[in-house]
Amino acid sequence: MSRLIVISNRVGPLNDEGKAGGLAVGLADALRQRGGIWFGWSGGTTEEGTHGPLRIENEGKVKLATVDMTEADLDAFYRGFANQALWPVFHYRIDLANYERRQAEIYERINERIASRLNPLLESDDLVWVHDYHFMPLGENIRASGFTGALGFFLHVPFPPPEVITTLPHAHRLVRSMLSYDVVGFQTKIDRDNFAHFLTSEFNGVELGDGWVEAAGRRVHAGAFPIGIDTERFAEFAVSPEAGRRYHQLRSVLRDRKQIIGVDRLDYSKGIPDRLRAFRRLLEDYPENRDKASLLQVAPVSRGDVDAYAELRRELEELAGRINGVYGLLHWTPVRIMTRGFARKALAGLYRASHVALVTPLRDGMNLVAKEYIAAQDPDDPGVLVLSRFAGAAAEMHEALIVNPYDITEVAEVLQRALQMPLAERKRRWNALHKTISQGTAVSWCDGFLGTLETALARRRETQAQRQRDADTTQTKATTGATTPAKNGTSGDEIAPGPLPTHA
Ligand code: G6P
Repeated sequence: MSRLIVISNRVGPLNDEGKAGGLAVGLADALRQRGGIWFGWSGGTTEEGTHGPLRIENEGKVKLATVDMTEADLDAFYRGFANQALWPVFHYRIDLANYERRQAEIYERINERIASRLNPLLESDDLVWVHDYHFMPLGENIRASGFTGALGFFLHVPFPPPEVITTLPHAHRLVRSMLSYDVVGFQTKIDRDNFAHFLTSEFNGVELGDGWVEAAGRRVHAGAFPIGIDTERFAEFAVSPEAGRRYHQLRSVLRDRKQIIGVDRLDYSKGIPDRLRAFRRLLEDYPENRDKASLLQVAPVSRGDVDAYAELRRELEELAGRINGVYGLLHWTPVRIMTRGFARKALAGLYRASHVALVTPLRDGMNLVAKEYIAAQDPDDPGVLVLSRFAGAAAEMHEALIVNPYDITEVAEVLQRALQMPLAERKRRWNALHKTISQGTAVSWCDGFLGTLETALARRRETQAQRQRDADTTQTKATTGATTPAKNGTSGDEIAPGPLPTHA
């Protein structure tokens, strides 16, 4: 089995007891099985930054290899281009995007540097898997060093239509660099098709069938690989002593009230203010819920030094304050916002104690909270999932109550329905959802992607070998005076990986 080399901005942890997300759970398993390296940012800054020493931690067959950044690089690369240009645009928020050429250049430079630090560690038969919007052009840089092995990319966030992406200066250069990968994976078919549409409309590309697209002289396999969780393990978390403690704490505060829960990084893509407004509408339109239903929003602060995030925090605190001011009672606080994070076992207990999960992002690649909430439920008395149609999870989780998060009145109506839902219907929906998340897990996501990557590599090698045989035959015939057969299709040589031509 080939080694697996994973590159992502955040690295680890390799065990999922703490705060590991879906990405970490899926990858840790595959890394442990295959052995390999997980390469990324250390989370720290030093004066040497990416030029500084590699920090290596060994855990069995797996190495965690990280580099620091300088404060200036972090500012331009992470806070700047990645999170103030790519993140908002990829979440359809072009109104919030802030594009600065200098930051874009540093983004490219960091990608080049990460590739140059990674290259000496690579072996020719490694499977290299690059993750997320921080490192979209990394594949091109890795190829430039001569690596011809399997190279895949997975985008954890949405990929919007060309009309949205092209608001980003140099969008063509960025998307074109993705053609250096053998496989480009997305969370949903919509994202996958938006990418393919970019290739066909902006680069005159052609869909070849079976997920293959040819554009700009390259062939890439573009597929949807919805990420999942370790469902069984998360269900175990929900009955752990730590979860039990949290469950009882929460239920004793609630008494006979119902708990609606939201859990999100404090991010504008998550639609948290609209969610609070929908809850306020519930209290306005269905007054029987006053003193009978509470909203707990867990929202750990994220990217707090980026303006849009600091602004969001102020907005939320104000909104929650107003709702509590109008509807609160001495013995009942309608909305609670907690900006601290919880370890996964504690979170599982909070999910299990909650009657409804309100997962209403305005746009989300997948949203694993939806899956974790289902995994954590008591099968004999499960809660109800209210899910935004704009979360990638909605493409699979059909038995959730699907809402348009922009329509506050609709969300309030659906919340009311969720709070009133009879046990038989709750069980029926939960069983179906549980089946879905048990089939598509973190491990099956990882296996599915890596299997496709291996197949894509085999196909590329076979195509190259065939082209070589054809070329040899042509050569022999030419030297023996035979006629040369016409070549059809695009030039085969271009399908081989290698540096892309420089372009605008
Ligand atoms: C999203 C992104 C990840 C990122 C995570 C946390 O899920 O897809 O790549 O790591 O948010 O954001 P942060 O900026 O704290 O790494």
